[in-house]
Amino acid sequence: MTARLQYGTTAKVLHWLIVALLIMQYLIGWLMPDIHRGMKPGAGMTFHISVGMTILVLIVLRFAWRLTHPVAPESSLPPWQRLSSEVVHWMLYVLVLATTVTGWLFASYRGWSVALFYVMPMPMLASDNAAAGKAIDGLHQASEWALLVLIGIHVASAFAHIFVYRNRIMQRMLPE
Ligand code: HEM
Ligand code: HEM
Repeated sequence: MTARLQYGTTAKVLHWLIVALLIMQYLIGWLMPDIHRGMKPGAGMTFHISVGMTILVLIVLRFAWRLTHPVAPESSLPPWQRLSSEVVHWMLYVLVLATTVTGWLFASYRGWSVALFYVMPMPMLASDNAAAGKAIDGLHQASEWALLVLIGIHVASAFAHIFVYRNRIMQRMLPE
């Protein structure tokens, strides 16, 4: 498949939609009440889970879109930047996937039943298991922090292209 030179509207819409949902997701995650034994999910947790499952669906769609509509790295970039941006983009997909799936496993091991956005009953991946829940909680937190660090690197690079290299990399992800 020949790689195109620019991101299309679908790739851009999915990119910025996921950015907006991730900002919301971190805010809900940090602001919602801590979990106690035997607790049932309240409104904060229900929205955290609902937004998180939406992010999971969108990142899978986005990854499928990337595989079927590949975009070549900007040809004017030095080879090390072409390679490092590819690596960071791949890792962003992997870490969003890891964060959402560990969250889903955590909710499953808690034995919760949750209706996404109070509408759609959510399928669970496993049944009640307190020990597994404890282990997976650590993984959800580790991947959520690793994702945040990687997003920081990605955003800092975007700003470096605007203010230091002064090229048109940022324009690639903006509306035409
Ligand atoms: C990329 C998406 C996600 C991000 C960025 C994210 C982020 C967070 C954050 C920041 C916290 C607070 C933890 C802390 O205090 O450090 C949290 C907790 C939690 N998240 Fe997520 N989350 C995501 C997806 C999900 C999904 C899809 C689910 C479930 C289906 C989920 C379930 C939970 C649960 C149950 C907790 C509570 C764990 C605890 O308080 O120890 N998360 N998440
Ligand atoms: C303010 C925040 C952000 C800015 C300014 C930004 C900017 C950009 C730009 C300019 C590109 C195109 C790079 C190129 O190929 O030339 C891009 C690609 C990408 N961004 Fe972001 N981004 C931001 C946040 C995020 C976040 C939070 C994620 C988290 C998942 C993300 C994931 C990606 C991925 C995976 C690609 C590669 C697309 C592909 O080829 O599949 N970005 N971003």
